[in-house]
Amino acid sequence: MICDNISVNGRGHLTFAGYDTVELAEKYGTPLCLMDENKIRDHVRGYKVAMEKYFPAGSAPEFAGKAFSCRQIYRIMAEEGIDIDVVSPGEIYTAATAGFPMENSFFHGNNKTDSDLRFAIENKVGHIVVDGEDELFALNRIAGAAGIVQKILLRLTPGIDPHTHKKISTGAVDSKFGVPIETGQALELVKKALELKNVSLSGFHCHVGSQIFESRPFTDAAEIMLDFIAEARDRLKFTAGTLNLGGGFGVRYTESDPAIDYGEKIAEVAAALQKKCSALKLEMPAILMEPGRSIVADAGMTLYTVGSVKEIKGYKNYVSIDGGMTDNPRYTLYESPYTVILASRADAVKNFTATVAGRCCESGDLIQENVVMPKPCRGEILAVLTTGAYNYSMASNYNRVGRPPVVMLNGERDYVAIRRETYEDICSLDE
Ligand code: LLP
Repeated sequence: MICDNISVNGRGHLTFAGYDTVELAEKYGTPLCLMDENKIRDHVRGYKVAMEKYFPAGSAPEFAGKAFSCRQIYRIMAEEGIDIDVVSPGEIYTAATAGFPMENSFFHGNNKTDSDLRFAIENKVGHIVVDGEDELFALNRIAGAAGIVQKILLRLTPGIDPHTHKKISTGAVDSKFGVPIETGQALELVKKALELKNVSLSGFHCHVGSQIFESRPFTDAAEIMLDFIAEARDRLKFTAGTLNLGGGFGVRYTESDPAIDYGEKIAEVAAALQKKCSALKLEMPAILMEPGRSIVADAGMTLYTVGSVKEIKGYKNYVSIDGGMTDNPRYTLYESPYTVILASRADAVKNFTATVAGRCCESGDLIQENVVMPKPCRGEILAVLTTGAYNYSMASNYNRVGRPPVVMLNGERDYVAIRRETYEDICSLDE
């Protein structure tokens, strides 16, 4: 199995986090999103330990909430004592109302409106990661009106191509995010930020992309950022205390994805940073990282009930399920690979090849193509693995399909973190 929280029990049922998935499907209904709470906590602790070991004091991971945002995940992050990144007033509201200590949050986004900035300040967001010049001036004005000095990082684009899917690559010079170093605009902006009264610059941020398995894009970006930090020190007498390297480590969606040891990768990044800092005679700044996917992806699994099984003789087979792009748009958007298992008969012979299709009125609503599985029967349970990141958070109500519940499993109890959306919920905004 692609992750150690997945197995098959004596009844031939797929298990997840030690729970019989077929029993969970009966108890909660389908579609059903499951989250393995212990796996989430293990990943958080793994990052924390490695970052404290290899990087200077003050270094820490932040959970990138966009990967999976709900009140319970922020409570878990608060209990684990790690920071979060938020990207919208909606995420700020979710975290703040969950009781998350907002001074430990970082607010990102390429287009924060004035009202977003005001909302962030009212909610006492710790750092705002400023994305460009007009946002810098708007924030300075709004912070001034609120009578505060807002801590900021500047988001810079180091000009790195991480060789990942182009829709999830963000560090290139022509990206919609951040201020480019190469064109000289980044240094200009630092100069301006240092002259403003109501913002206080802690350091710099970059993020190169997502689903990355190598340490190279991180070390390349970090080296460019350190060169920039040294330049700002020499030319502007500003020494950044913090360097945020963003998120991006990859996860195993299928057997062909490598299993990576994040601690090992962090050690590799730290060694490269150390070398570069010595060459630049720079004290290593505190390093922040913002993992999202690698904290929650393999802590998630989605269960569906098989509906129609259609064989088009001489062409292809379809297995349709009771969810689809509404709870998992990632195949439709990125052709993302997934491992699909017939949970009801997980140890049966796999002799049927099919496209797993969602229920929406859209030909592109597929979960996966060319899946080899035992030929399923209507009513059996199908599991899609590694769905904890960017599935629920990108879910929609297309065709007025309700979003599934998210049930947390922690070995002691299974409990609802997000309840199933009802028809009334779906109509709740309609006048
Ligand atoms: N920090 C920043 C500034 C980001 O933009 C992102 C992701 C992260 C951290 C977290 O990256 P991660 O560790 O999760 O790779 N919807 C796409 C992924 C979009 C990623 C957006 N930014 C997907 O489903 O693959």
